[in-house]
Amino acid sequence: MDLLAVHDLGCTTEDGSQIFSGVELTLHEGDVVVVQGKSGCGKTTFLKCLAHLNLYNGHILFCGKGIENVTIGAPIYRTKVAYVPQRPPLLPGSPRDFLATASSFKARRKGKGRKDARSSEDFEHPLKIASSWGIDSQLWDREWTNLSGGETQRIALAIGLGLDTAEVLLLDEPTSALDQDSCLIVERHILDALNSSENPLKAIVWITHSPEQASRVGTRFLQFTGGSSYEESSPPV
Ligand SMILES: Nc1ncnc2c1ncn2[C@@H]1O[C@H](COP(=O)(O)OP(=O)(O)OP(=O)(O)O)[C@@H](O)[C@H]1O
Ligand SMILES: [Mg+2]
Repeated sequence: MDLLAVHDLGCTTEDGSQIFSGVELTLHEGDVVVVQGKSGCGKTTFLKCLAHLNLYNGHILFCGKGIENVTIGAPIYRTKVAYVPQRPPLLPGSPRDFLATASSFKARRKGKGRKDARSSEDFEHPLKIASSWGIDSQLWDREWTNLSGGETQRIALAIGLGLDTAEVLLLDEPTSALDQDSCLIVERHILDALNSSENPLKAIVWITHSPEQASRVGTRFLQFTGGSSYEESSPPV
């Protein structure tokens, strides 16, 4: 069964201009699909469409079903196909507040649904991952707006990975604000999670502007250009 199947996907802005059209992609277990292309060509918009955070034309099927036929609904879908944004989220409150909201969807999925039903694991794993990436626990209580770009990226990524619900991770330039050493540590952790039987993660769509990163992490390569896309057998240089 295909994990995620994208057919004839297109996106048009409110004023009628087309960002991209006709994208085809089938995601299988173990894939790390690297998405590349010039700034402004539509990569982030594509990922937001996959996460059902953006309107689109065409079809996106998760395990063979469209979201309209999936009883879990969009919020739970987004815990299974999780988007980690390019920019610091314009959210009120702190990362800990965000984690509480995100883990409440996870609790509902398990049929619990009450705030007090959340297990401490929901909080501990993201904190543990972030700590292994040099994030001090006190940063979780700071306003998002008062964190550095690299701190924000690592915390958002630790939540995406550490909630242990994502089968597909949609990573939008996840290490663009990190120094080289931190970048390599984070990359390794993500790829280890993909290969671990203890983590539900099965595939990744990963946007990067770095050809070196593309070569290190990618198993497949999708190039966006001039409103369309095509797959290459090796990373474009
Ligand atoms: N809601 C919107 N309304 C109008 N235009 C939009 C909207 N969202 C995105 N765009 C435009 O669509 C184009 C694609 O944007 P997108 O953020 O997907 O690019 P990108 O490939 O991720 O670029 P970058 O590499 O700089 O992150 C840009 O020209 C952007 O300004
Ligand atoms: Mg972008």
